[in-house]
Amino acid sequence: MNNNIAAPLKEIPDGLVCIADYAHFAKQHISHDIYEYIAGGGADELTLQRNRRALDEIQLLPQMLKDCTQGSTATTFMGESLRHPILLAPVAFHKLVHPLGEIATAQAASALETTMVVSTLASQKMEDIAAQLDSAKWFQLYFQQSRAFTLTLLKRAEAAGYTKLMVTVDASLHGIRNRAQRAGFKLPPDVKAVNLEDRPELPRKVLSAEQSIVFQGMMTEAPTWEDIAWLLQNSTLPIILKGLLHPQDVVKAQRMGIAGVVVSNHGGRTLDSIPSAIELLPRIRKAVGAEYPLILDGAIERGTDIYKAIALGANTVMVGRPQLYALAVAGALGVAHMLRILREELEVTMAMMGTPEIKDINTQSLYSDE
Ligand SMILES: Cc1cc2nc3c(=O)[nH]c(=O)nc-3n(C[C@H](O)[C@H](O)[C@H](O)COP(=O)(O)O)c2cc1C
Repeated sequence: MNNNIAAPLKEIPDGLVCIADYAHFAKQHISHDIYEYIAGGGADELTLQRNRRALDEIQLLPQMLKDCTQGSTATTFMGESLRHPILLAPVAFHKLVHPLGEIATAQAASALETTMVVSTLASQKMEDIAAQLDSAKWFQLYFQQSRAFTLTLLKRAEAAGYTKLMVTVDASLHGIRNRAQRAGFKLPPDVKAVNLEDRPELPRKVLSAEQSIVFQGMMTEAPTWEDIAWLLQNSTLPIILKGLLHPQDVVKAQRMGIAGVVVSNHGGRTLDSIPSAIELLPRIRKAVGAEYPLILDGAIERGTDIYKAIALGANTVMVGRPQLYALAVAGALGVAHMLRILREELEVTMAMMGTPEIKDINTQSLYSDE
């Protein structure tokens, strides 16, 4: 790590009281280029801003005088018991912000009984992270150039005890990351995608002058529905697709046997000028019916955000960037504190709304002036 920046703290600083505070405090613990890489979105960041704005515009309508003394954030999801409907989203390279990287995050997830989704681009071995996780562990898969190596990753995840496979399908191209480019972000040499180190080197494609580096280059490695069908035949783990927004895509996934979907725009980091997941969620819920497992992510920073997502049809949410900010500020302690804040804010919201259990939360809890 860069020596000019403050080391992670051993206790939570005074005045750090909410998730957004973590982004602010993290600036002292991360170099500027790394901060910009994490915080930034695609192109003009229209989608990034919209993710926050769309949540802010939803209002809650509380009901009074309900007995909430038996309340709980516990729920079950895809056959697993959750202490709260908050998951750690797959986020690459935790060692960018802390020397222990994903190991520290996993310790926090265990302490707060939180499901962690480990990225293909983790900077620690997936087996070592799994060994730290007492809570549920899921593996996020990026399709690899060769199906054989994709299968190797899948088999390793199965052997290490991961119980679900989350396949990300919205990031075959990086997107136009102007903010990270302006800051000159480059992956430091000591931070690597260690789970891909055995990846076989395939011959580099030589493109002619008429061919496009996007279409005939990068897109030849992007998965298609055919690859998803192949994966379904080869995985013993239930498969969740991450990064669908179009209701027709979600219905297609449901019909082909995909176990659940993450409605997500990748934290506004890929294609710019697309709607936020929360805006599409009601349409998607309607299209797939009440029972189909749906996860939502993007700008979840408050208990009220989680509540809004559940009211509009999500079963659970995931948090992305706040993990890295909290890890940078105070390591495992920071991530645990971040998760505790979210859970407590959700409890406060549920109690004040008069909806003591997750199953009580629905669109009746939202204000609409129609
Ligand atoms: C720095 C960074 C790295 C990410 N890496 C991955 C990844 O490796 N795999 C993946 O599926 N999503 C990745 N994501 C997207 C997150 O899983 C998630 O969709 C997004 O961060 C949610 O938005 P939020 O950051 O506003 O909570 C990454 C996001 C960030 C900010």
